[in-house]
Amino acid sequence: MSDLTKRIPTWPIATDREMALLREVIESPQWGGFHEIVQRFEREFAAFQHAGHGVSAMNGTVTLEMVLSVLGIGPGDEVIVPAISFVSSATAVSRVGATPVFVDIEESTFNIDPIRAALAVTLNTKAIMPVHFGGPMAQMDRLTELTGGFGIALLEDAAHAQGSEWNGKRAGSIGACSSFSFQNGKVMTAGEGGIVLTSSDSLAEKFRSFANQGRRVDGPSNFHHFSLGTNLRMTALQAAILIAQLERLPEQIALRVRNAAVIRKAVEDVPALKWQEAPAECTAQSYYLLLGRIANRDEFCRKLTEAGIPNTPFYPHTLYENPLYESRASCVVHDCPVAEQSIHDAFWLPHRVLMADQETTAGIAQAIREAALAAA
Ligand SMILES: Cc1ncc(COP(=O)(O)O)c(C=O)c1O
Repeated sequence: MSDLTKRIPTWPIATDREMALLREVIESPQWGGFHEIVQRFEREFAAFQHAGHGVSAMNGTVTLEMVLSVLGIGPGDEVIVPAISFVSSATAVSRVGATPVFVDIEESTFNIDPIRAALAVTLNTKAIMPVHFGGPMAQMDRLTELTGGFGIALLEDAAHAQGSEWNGKRAGSIGACSSFSFQNGKVMTAGEGGIVLTSSDSLAEKFRSFANQGRRVDGPSNFHHFSLGTNLRMTALQAAILIAQLERLPEQIALRVRNAAVIRKAVEDVPALKWQEAPAECTAQSYYLLLGRIANRDEFCRKLTEAGIPNTPFYPHTLYENPLYESRASCVVHDCPVAEQSIHDAFWLPHRVLMADQETTAGIAQAIREAALAAA
């Protein structure tokens, strides 16, 4: 095992704080979603992200599906999504019976290209669902202009964007509603978990009811169901862990920002290596991934692996090239040259690479520099 492998922190990280909060739950008679700690987490996370309400759920896939279902998006409707994302960004649309419309990403930010999104709008477009890929937020001003007043919902897939900001407003508080993931690799995690945020009182009530079997907060009993819902409740065990994870998030982001700057500086004279850029309006970002592009990507990644730096040579295909969407009858695909190129030249490093001590970070920066020079 290389020296760097041993020195790069593992993830997830838990401390006595997680243990203490978990103990509170375990020693109570309620381990499920009706424990008060779940609502406490929803309030604290929504406030942190500058949104009015949070409705938590089991994971960040069902939250996307819940958003689309509750907004009444279904057969005959189109939802514009970026061609590069995790599969849930597309399957959530398909699972409610609507049609995912794949559009290209911007080369520098890796996020949905607002011009391409505008060209993809039809009379059937019901929503645009940008992903804040890797942390930097998508072009929220352009997307707000494109959707506002046209009956198109702007739905943020903020699975990667805990703590990210657009002109000081946090991810998930700009669109009509948003979805976050707390899956094992995310910057806050309970192994699994998700949450929907919205500042609309009426939407929040609908989400809460949908995720809790169609119950209403003011219902006369637990056995009165007012609408067709399901059980998506987050457990109290998840919420306990996430409260502790949220408390630590700001200092962890600050550490990643500092270490990313050290790494970027070490290769600033290597033009072959291009890091993901954030628009100027993106005033903070989670650094869920350290993303970049380099021509000889596979060679570069091999060198990183040899040096003990975990890395992923990007997705093996665009979303629409998944076997699932082989039959183009179930989706609409626009030209996506940048997304297709990314499959060959993009890579990412997980956020734990940005959470090492100073000396290790200097070693990581040096190894990345050597790998980039060897690949160039
Ligand atoms: C952009 C994006 N959206 C949605 C999800 C789905 O989240 P989950 O794994 O919690 O279901 C992920 C997951 O990793 C993701 O990367």
